[in-house]
Order: sequence, then structure tokens, then C-alpha cells
Amino acid sequence: MKTIFITGASSGLGKATAMLFLTQGWRVIATMRDPGAAKEFQRSERLIILPLDVTDAEQIKLTVEQLTAEFDVDVVFNNAGYGISGPLEAVTEFQLQRQIETNLLGPIRVTQAFIPYFRKKGSGLFITTTSVGGLVGFPFSSLYHATKWGLEGWSESMSFELRKLGISIKTVAPGAIQTDFINRSYDWALHPAYQHWMDRFTANVSGTVFAPPEKIAQVVFEAATDGKNQLRYLAGDDTKMLYNKRLELGNDGFNKFMEAAFLSDK
Ligand SMILES: NC(=O)c1ccc[n+]([C@@H]2O[C@H](COP(=O)([O-])OP(=O)(O)OC[C@H]3O[C@@H](n4cnc5c(N)ncnc54)[C@H](OP(=O)(O)O)[C@@H]3O)[C@@H](O)[C@H]2O)c1
Repeated sequence: MKTIFITGASSGLGKATAMLFLTQGWRVIATMRDPGAAKEFQRSERLIILPLDVTDAEQIKLTVEQLTAEFDVDVVFNNAGYGISGPLEAVTEFQLQRQIETNLLGPIRVTQAFIPYFRKKGSGLFITTTSVGGLVGFPFSSLYHATKWGLEGWSESMSFELRKLGISIKTVAPGAIQTDFINRSYDWALHPAYQHWMDRFTANVSGTVFAPPEKIAQVVFEAATDGKNQLRYLAGDDTKMLYNKRLELGNDGFNKFMEAAFLSDK
């Protein structure tokens, strides 16, 4: 039986991925900050719920040590994360550290904890949820981009050293997902000097079409099972459209396109 380990499995994409892999006959180790959040999950003897806060380096180490002593793990899905918008000038030190600790250092620490186990096994796969925000830049999202672009660059570099050990690493970059992300997993930094442009941005972004999390979970399943030597999986029509636009227009042309699309007074 194949086993996947998931972070941030309490809701949204993490939960949809847990459910899909269970349906496909996998064992699922679903980790979450509050295991009580899983009380409505479908029951299965192949479902193991464990507490894990990805900002807690000690808890990551202990959890990975204990569970790899008991279970065979094939895929690690680094999914936990949250968003933040607003001009950098308004971001507090707490917001800055929390975003980097959760979105960037969390996946890096979880991956680091699993590497010795996968190295001894001679196989294993890491998949990390990044974002369209890991491939293109939106206004007023610089900190989130720092983490998601960071994860894309980190994964690309990691692929070289891991491949030598028989281990793979992939990213899944979703566009907008129809989860409760904006209400439950979002932080804001506001400053009056930028508010007019923030309002423009939020108005222009409001027409976004959101993909169901089940559809993005299918891309995670594809990445986990297709056996391809492929680093990046673009998930959702909006991601594909924007990334292709970037390639078509080049960096500076795309920057102008985004300015017109999201900050114009239309
Ligand atoms: N929704 C979108 O439009 C969108 C687009 C592109 C990428 N993404 C990415 O997709 C991933 C999942 O987001 P989602 O849309 O499914 O939103 P979500 O339903 O709000 O899920 C976010 C998950 O991350 C968990 N989390 C946050 N901080 C954590 C921490 N310190 N330790 C462990 N878990 C933590 C949350 O746990 P709690 O229940 O404890 O809060 C929750 O399970 C994120 O990485 C996000 O950046 C989302």
C-alpha cells in the first residue's frame, strides 16, 4: 500500500487531497495543527491523523522520526500555508516572520526531516503546493511571493541533489482555489498611502474564477503517480494563462500587462 504524508490537511486543498488519495486506496497520514478539525472526515483504517504545526521545528523532527519508524512513506505533500496582502511598508515584524516561517521554512524543514529516511530507502517524492504567485508577480503580495517563488527556486535546486539519491521533488502551482483561504487563512497589512491602489487591486482581482479543490487535488495525484521527471505542475486555467502570458510577453512586457490588468482606474 502506498502512503502519502500531508501538511495542512484540516481543510481546503489538503483535505481534498487526503480524501482523493484515500479513495484511490492509499494510506493517508493527514497532519494538522488541530486534529479536532478532522472529526467530520470519512472514517478509514488507512487514515491516520497527527498533530503538526509546520512552524514548530522540534515537533516536525519528532513526528517524522516516530512515524517513519512505524510506517513506510512514499510521498510527502507540503501543503500548509496562508496568504498575506498589503504594501511592505505596512507589514509588521510578526507578520513577516510568521509568513516566512509557515510558507517557506515549514516545507523546507519538513523536507529536511524526511530526507535521511528517503535516502536510506533509495526512493521518495516531495510535492509542494506553491501558487501561480510562485511563477508571476501580483501587486501588493510581495511577502507571499517571496515564499512561493522561494519554494519554486528551492525545489528546482533541490532536484539536483535529491535525484542523485533516487528521490524526486515536484511543485504544484494552483491559481485561485475555491477554498475558504481568503476568510480563514489570510492576513492583511494596510497603509493609507497605498489604499487607493489596494482598492483598485482588490476590485480588479474580484472577477477571478476559482477552481474546486478536488480539481487541484487531481493534479497532486497526477504528480504523485505519473512517474515523470517533471518539476512543475501548473494547476488551473488561470495559472496556465498567466504563466504562458509571461513567457509570451517577457518579463517587462508582462509587468506592464499586470499593471494594466490590476492597477488601472478602469
Ligand atoms: N486558495 C487559493 O486560492 C490558493 C491559491 C494558490 C495556492 N494556494 C495554496 O494552497 C495551500 C492550501 O490552501 P487552501 O486554499 O486549501 O486554504 P485553507 O483551506 O485555508 O488551507 C490552509 C491550510 O494550511 C494550514 N496551516 C496554516 N498554517 C499552518 C501551520 N503553521 N502549521 C500547519 N498547518 C498550517 C491550515 O491549518 P489550520 O486549519 O490549522 O488553519 C489549513 O489546513 C496553501 O499553501 C496556499 O498558499 C491557495
